[in-house]
Amino acid sequence: MSSPAVVPWSELRERARHATSTSYAPYSHVTVGACAITTDGRFVVGANVENASYGLTLCAECSLVSDLARIGGGRLRAVSIVAGDGQPIAPCGRCRQLLFEHGGNELLVDAGEDSDPMPLRELLPDAFGPEDLGIRRSW
Ligand code: THU
Repeated sequence: MSSPAVVPWSELRERARHATSTSYAPYSHVTVGACAITTDGRFVVGANVENASYGLTLCAECSLVSDLARIGGGRLRAVSIVAGDGQPIAPCGRCRQLLFEHGGNELLVDAGEDSDPMPLRELLPDAFGPEDLGIRRSW
């Protein structure tokens, strides 16, 4: 598979919308779906999975990065995250960090049909990442 020249935003959104139907959100009633394309052209999806203890809720992006690992890993190139109304939503803070681990600063995040996608570096400036571990170790 080769790197797609143009990000298929419509397909990412459609797949993310479809993923909302697999969401488990009996507490918030906010269904969220996410779909990303990897740099080698594979699609990964996720949906939020809530928990009675609230704080253990898994966001759609969390399930998406699990899907990435499950299919062999790789780097995320672009991602669309949508709520049950089908419209893109901003990733929560924790998920920005999760996405950074697997896509880095250049990962493109859907901002809707009428806006330019945002590189993750603008959503999570000066991110702490895997390289920091290497240079911060004390021994
Ligand atoms: N949620 C996500 O799945 N991703 C985000 O980035 C924001 C929030 C979910 C978690 C919870 O199930 C519901 O939205 C309401 O917070």
